[in-house]
Amino acid sequence: MDNRSIGVFDSGIGGLTVVKELMEILPNEKIVYFGDTARVPYGNRSEDTIKRFSKECIEFLDRKDIKALIIACNTVSAVALDMLKEIFDMYILGVIVPGSKMANNITINKKIGVIGTNATILSGAYEKNIKNESIENIVYSKACPLFVPIVEDGLSDTTIAMETTKFYLDELIKENVDTIVMGCTHYPILENTIKTVVGKNINLVNPAKETAIEMKNYLEKNSLLNEEVQNNKNNIFYITDDENKFRRNLLDFINIDNPNIKKINLKEKCIDEK
Ligand code: DGL
Repeated sequence: MDNRSIGVFDSGIGGLTVVKELMEILPNEKIVYFGDTARVPYGNRSEDTIKRFSKECIEFLDRKDIKALIIACNTVSAVALDMLKEIFDMYILGVIVPGSKMANNITINKKIGVIGTNATILSGAYEKNIKNESIENIVYSKACPLFVPIVEDGLSDTTIAMETTKFYLDELIKENVDTIVMGCTHYPILENTIKTVVGKNINLVNPAKETAIEMKNYLEKNSLLNEEVQNNKNNIFYITDDENKFRRNLLDFINIDNPNIKKINLKEKCIDEK
C-alpha cells in the first residue's frame, strides 16, 4: 500500500478527462493535478518550447511526493515523453500508447482517424504506435487546432463548435474511417458535438479510460494501491492562471463540489512549499 498521490499533468483543463476516469477506476487514489493554464495551448508551439514548459511543470509536481505520473496531454506525450522519462525517476505514463491500443482493438475496417493538436499530428506518434501493433491499419490524421480554445472558453455545445467540427472532420468521414481517436485530452469535452457530426457508425476513442486502466494495472502489480477511502477534498488542482475560470470548468465537467484549487507562479515557491 502507498497512500501518496498520483500526479496528472496537462497544459490546461484537458487532463480533467483523465481525472474523471481515474476517479471512477481508482476511487481510493488521491490526485495532484497540474494545469499550465497560463500557457495553454501547447499544441501550436515548437518541440523545444513544449519540452521546456513540460519539464518546468513536472519539476513542480515532483516536489509533491507523488508515486506515479500521468502525462494527460497528447501533445506532451507525443513530443516530450522520452525526455521526461530520462530526467525524472518515477513511473510516467503517457496517453498515446493506451489510445493506440484501444483504436486497434475497436476498428473493424482497419481505417482509423486520429485528431489532435498540430504538434501531435506533426509528430506522427499515433500513426507509429498504431502501425507498430497492427501494420495493416491505415491511419488518417487531422490537426484540429481550434478545438482547444473552444473547449477552454466553454463553447463546446455551441454552433461555433458544431461548424468547426464539420469543417475539420469532413475529410475523415469521406475516407470512410470507422474509428476516430480523440488524440487530445480536451476533445472528449466536445464528444457530444463530435458524435453529432460523425454519426453513430464511427466509434470515438477516448484514450483517458485505457490510460486509467493502465495506471491501475501498474499500481496493482507493484502493490502501490491506496487502500484508504478518499473524498474530493484530498485532490489538489494546481493551475497557473485564473482560478474562477478553472473552477467553472471543473464544475461543468466533473462536478466536484468545492474543489481545492491553488493558483501558482512557477517561478515562485508555492505557499504550501514555503
Ligand atoms: N490537451 C492537450 C493534448 O492532449 C494539449 C492542448 C494544447 O495545449 O494545445 O494534446
